[in-house]
Amino acid sequence: MEKTNVAIVGLGTVGTGVARLLLDHGDRTARHAGRTLWLKKAVVRDLSKPRDVDLPSGIVTDSIDDVINDPDIQVVAQLIGGLEPARTIMLRLLESGKDIVTANKALLAEHGPELFTRARELGRSIAFEAAVAGGIPIIANLSQCLSANQICKLEGILNGTSNFIVTQMDEKGASYEDVVRRAQQLGYAEADPTMDVDGTDAAQKLSILAHLAFGATVNWADIPRVGIDGLDPDDLRFSRQLGYRIKLLALANLADDGLELSVGPTLVRIGTPLAEVRDAYNAIRVIGDAVGPVFYHGLGAGQMPTASAVAADLIDTAVGRTKLTFQTLEYFSTDQPPRVKQRE
Ligand code: NDP
Ligand code: HSE
Repeated sequence: MEKTNVAIVGLGTVGTGVARLLLDHGDRTARHAGRTLWLKKAVVRDLSKPRDVDLPSGIVTDSIDDVINDPDIQVVAQLIGGLEPARTIMLRLLESGKDIVTANKALLAEHGPELFTRARELGRSIAFEAAVAGGIPIIANLSQCLSANQICKLEGILNGTSNFIVTQMDEKGASYEDVVRRAQQLGYAEADPTMDVDGTDAAQKLSILAHLAFGATVNWADIPRVGIDGLDPDDLRFSRQLGYRIKLLALANLADDGLELSVGPTLVRIGTPLAEVRDAYNAIRVIGDAVGPVFYHGLGAGQMPTASAVAADLIDTAVGRTKLTFQTLEYFSTDQPPRVKQRE
């Protein structure tokens, strides 16, 4: 059977999960790709840190050059968070001829145009299913399965940490500080959890979805956003008494005069699907003019759900399927996007 050599850069929560899938379940990748994905290198910052996965000797390194200078490594899962050195590493990997898979939505929301343009110039691809809503295949659905539709509206819960916090505060009476700590221990939160609770992470994800769904190039920082960091336990209690739950909703609505985008705590009637999304689950409701409403629900944060999306992208990249998402992005970059409504 043919082999694709893979490297992982960043062996934290997500990277460790991806390594587990590749090392323990290589048969699955072989079944779907018709080839073996072979983990050849894993790059970390701190070699002395214990890793929660059994890695064959000689795989782990603290030098990105071991990947860049290895012409046999074709695909790299770039799983370092934040902007730098993630951006520079991605550009160097592309320039050395590697296709990339990433879960780093902050990087794509901030530097996506630069990275995608460079990848296209070099004939490489960047796959990013894990960057939005963890294990839910929303990127593939918007760029492929729903491509015959004009998307009219998209609304959802895109940050698992915030949803975990409001669920635990609402249902268990947990304190805000305790639940933030638990979200960090469970591997849901960003390295800086402020990005989760102040709406930044959801806005970054919404900007990526807005590009795929509406062709709009949106600066995530221009999306009006409010987080759950200012919520009082009484807000949750009174809402429940009135028959509502508070959810951090991200909304994109194609109105006659442009695309409305926002992120904020929203009252959602108990019993409706979005109100019943609990803990680190995410959900997205998309309305297309042909398909009507479609609802996606699944774990939006955490090690294995996210690793599931990354590993699927590795398989797709190995067999050349990620080029499809890329074509969608290219099409949109030349199409007339809708006007984005300004903050009021
Ligand atoms: P972690 O903080 O757990 O892991 C980051 C890893 O990157 C660590 O292993 C760290 O190495 C490594 N790293 C950092 N800087 C460098 C460097 N300069 N050179 C080499 N390695 C480096 O993050 P996560 O795994 O949680 O997240 C990774 C990405 O995935 C982020 O962009 C995040 O937003 C995204 N994501 C995370 C999800 C989740 O549920 N956790 C879900 C969806 C997306 P070391 O261990 O040696 O310090
Ligand atoms: N911190 C993010 C969240 C990880 O809680 O949703 C998944 O992108």
